[in-house]
Amino acid sequence: MRFATLYLAAGSVLATEAVSYVLPRDGYNTGSVPLPSRLLHHWPNGTWVENISVRPNGNLLLTTSTPNGTVWHVKNPWDNEPEVELAYNFDEWVDRLIGIGESTPDKYVVVGSRFYSPGPFSSQVDRTFCAMELDYSADPKGAPKARLIAWFPEATLLQSVAALPWNLSTVLISDQYVIRGRYEQIDWTPSPGQIWRLDTNTGDHTIIATNYSEMNTTYHHGEDVGIDGIKILDDYLYWVNQDDGGIYKLQIDEDGVPLAPGKAELVSKVDDQLWDDFAFGPGDEKIIWATGYNSIWAVSIDNGTAMVVDGVGTSDNLTFPGPTAAQFGRTQDDCHILYVTGNLYSVPDNLLNLVMGGWVRAIDTTGFHFS
Ligand SMILES: *[C@@H]1O[C@H](CO)[C@@H](O)[C@H](O)[C@H]1NC(C)=O
Ligand SMILES: *[C@@H]1O[C@H](CO)[C@@H](O)[C@H](O)[C@H]1NC(C)=O
Ligand SMILES: *[C@@H]1O[C@H](CO)[C@@H](O)[C@H](O)[C@H]1NC(C)=O
Ligand SMILES: *[C@@H]1O[C@H](CO)[C@@H](O)[C@H](O)[C@H]1NC(C)=O
Ligand SMILES: *[C@@H]1O[C@H](CO)[C@@H](O)[C@H](O)[C@H]1NC(C)=O
Ligand SMILES: *[C@@H]1O[C@H](CO)[C@@H](O)[C@H](O)[C@H]1NC(C)=O
Ligand SMILES: *[C@@H]1O[C@H](CO)[C@@H](O)[C@H](O)[C@H]1NC(C)=O
Ligand SMILES: *[C@@H]1O[C@H](CO)[C@@H](O)[C@H](O)[C@H]1NC(C)=O
Repeated sequence: MRFATLYLAAGSVLATEAVSYVLPRDGYNTGSVPLPSRLLHHWPNGTWVENISVRPNGNLLLTTSTPNGTVWHVKNPWDNEPEVELAYNFDEWVDRLIGIGESTPDKYVVVGSRFYSPGPFSSQVDRTFCAMELDYSADPKGAPKARLIAWFPEATLLQSVAALPWNLSTVLISDQYVIRGRYEQIDWTPSPGQIWRLDTNTGDHTIIATNYSEMNTTYHHGEDVGIDGIKILDDYLYWVNQDDGGIYKLQIDEDGVPLAPGKAELVSKVDDQLWDDFAFGPGDEKIIWATGYNSIWAVSIDNGTAMVVDGVGTSDNLTFPGPTAAQFGRTQDDCHILYVTGNLYSVPDNLLNLVMGGWVRAIDTTGFHFS
């Protein structure tokens, strides 16, 4: 999630919707850049779509940050025009949602808080962050159940949720921000870059990593978040720092705690990318697919090589305005498809002329290679 830095946006012209083939499509793709993509759904102007989780049955769950804290269900995303319906409105507890992450199969942790107003540049109300659950596990075809897991009064801006692969009912949650939870900003010191661990069964939570400079805001992009999306692969916690353009990793133990000496390692750094979220894949390929500045990037975990694959920097430069999160499909047919969410109607031509407009697109990554 980003707020203030939306003002940094640059570019020109309005978006055009050109592509309309159905993905996946055998033998279509050669893997050349820009990778082919298609629009699955556009929400009305004013809607900020922030994060995505893919259900075991292949359907997508998307969170919104404006105008409401809702989760939307995109069914059979491989259909030409997938059915899209409201899954749950969390207004009992929050005004906005940010991250969503699966804990145990078909159960999801979502995080959010109250905000002073529904616009994109409003700040969060202090001491109102919480983690909630959306649960399809009892009745995968029916309506989900929802509950509050825990209030997080000490959190600054809960972002991203990643379950411990060894103990799925325990999740890690990233937290960092420079904007204070009050109406008028008087103190611009960033909060410590930190990670919470939450037991989703009991609601118990504690900080397990804090005060990392690699999670901090550096003011490289202005007043913004440092650590944003997090994911766990093997025994490493990976994260992106939206402010310094770094992708980092840190070895953790089975309780999610950093292993001594607890030093962060740099995986890659791309200046000016405003990373938000990322996915690993497809399959067990050692590639990070990250949402950048109106663009999508592939980054090699092995050697840090970073390459733009869609959006600004390619010939298809208007199609990915404000991308926010990415995840691969989970069925045999769409496991090479990267689903990407975003929050702008078009790549802005003027810094003060942003129109929020949520979307989800499918990118076919078949055949992609670094070169
Ligand atoms: C998109 O590409 C066109 C043609 O190269 C260029 O004129 C325009 O400035 C680019 N816009 C962005 C936002 O990159
Ligand atoms: C959304 O905003 C764009 C850009 O301002 C405008 O062209 C379009 O008509 C708007 N759509 C709706 C449904 O208001
Ligand atoms: C908030 O979400 C509900 C869906 O539950 C929708 O009906 C309502 O119009 C939304 N509110 C605003 C301000 O858009
Ligand atoms: C988005 O959700 C996924 C889980 O589906 C999580 O791993 C990721 O870190 C989240 N990212 C953000 C920016 O909230
Ligand atoms: C999983 O984590 C919970 C707390 O979050 C803990 O009570 C339980 O013992 C853990 N299970 C294993 C197998 O480590
Ligand atoms: C946090 O890190 C900074 C910079 O490395 C250091 O000066 C400070 O003492 C640390 N604070 C705590 C509480 O560890
Ligand atoms: C985070 O940044 C702030 C502001 O530059 C600085 O005061 C603080 O020491 C930094 N903390 C760490 C751990 O780097
Ligand atoms: C980096 O690693 C990728 C595989 O992840 C490989 O395709 C590429 O050739 C490597 N690049 C360099 C410069 O070693």
